[in-house]
Amino acid sequence: LIPVFLPKLPSRFEVAELLSISEEQRHYSNWGPLARQYEKELAEYLAVDSERVVILANATLCLHGLVNCINRDRWVVPDFTFAASGMAVLGAGKELHLWDVECKNWMLSFDVISRAVSLGYGVLPVLPFGKDVSESKILGLPGVLIDAAASLGHSKNDLENLNPQSAVVFSLHATKVLASGEGGVAVCGSVELARELRRWSWFGFDDDRNSVGIGTNAKMSEFSAAVGLLSLRNRSIELAEWAEKKVRVYEFCKKHGLSNFTQEFSGSPYWIVEAKSVQVAENITNHLNARDIQTRRWWPSPLSKMPAFRSLAIYTENPVAEDLAGRVLGLPFFRDISESDLNTVFVEMMEALE
Ligand SMILES: Cc1ncc(COP(=O)(O)O)c(C=O)c1O
Repeated sequence: LIPVFLPKLPSRFEVAELLSISEEQRHYSNWGPLARQYEKELAEYLAVDSERVVILANATLCLHGLVNCINRDRWVVPDFTFAASGMAVLGAGKELHLWDVECKNWMLSFDVISRAVSLGYGVLPVLPFGKDVSESKILGLPGVLIDAAASLGHSKNDLENLNPQSAVVFSLHATKVLASGEGGVAVCGSVELARELRRWSWFGFDDDRNSVGIGTNAKMSEFSAAVGLLSLRNRSIELAEWAEKKVRVYEFCKKHGLSNFTQEFSGSPYWIVEAKSVQVAENITNHLNARDIQTRRWWPSPLSKMPAFRSLAIYTENPVAEDLAGRVLGLPFFRDISESDLNTVFVEMMEALE
């Protein structure tokens, strides 16, 4: 079997060595030494003030907490995304509005985002499949929470001009780049927003352990922090591996007319093809699966068509999201996929497309 993804995290021996720091201090949770160090080194990597960086148990909780902390009652989320983006809004008890995306980049357009902001909505734009955070125009708007789940490996992330009432969230899930296994990191536009998010992640406690707002327990463990720290410290090797495989896929796709904009994202953990029609996507899936090659429609349906959202969200027809969900397909891709497996996928893809 050639799997569609195959996570690779730092070795358990390296992790054990680092965990001895927590053990010596007998501090295993609640911002232990590794979690604090991890926040500091992530801030350096992302070139932002560490006071504005918050690591939590996963990216979904980062989004959920920020929707809770940013003062907006109604939230616009693209209909073409992973369930977590919509769940975060519903989980925070806010009104979820599902809007359509653009064909050209599978995102909410800047005009749509700025119109929603001016109407008083919070907006949760999603950067699909590892797109970089370089849309500085969006970053400057208030009440914008960017779901950049798969974009941490991108060299072009530019978080300089983030509005004080906005934030960007990256996932550290094992399938992502520079992962911690489970985890999420939020870069907040202001120290105040980061403080609110930290408080939310710790039962809404103030310094005297009185709950002064709604909260939960969303803290990152020392174990995840150890894994994440090691990934971050070893990043030059990991990023080079992703980039090298990406070039191979990019060249193949270009040659066979399969290119789409996601192929440009050197630090993204996906190979995403946009089939010409639902039928072609199905043909590719059937052909590859019959040869033990896995595929995955990462976002198989618009959220508005999923049972969990259908009755709880507000939406009209979103034809672009619907169309993309049927045609956008993930193929096997991971940083140490062998040349022979990659070649097998190339050969079978050509056959599938004949
Ligand atoms: C777009 C998007 N948002 C959010 C998430 C959730 O991330 P996590 O698994 O860290 O909660 C994912 C996970 O793949 C995702 O793809």
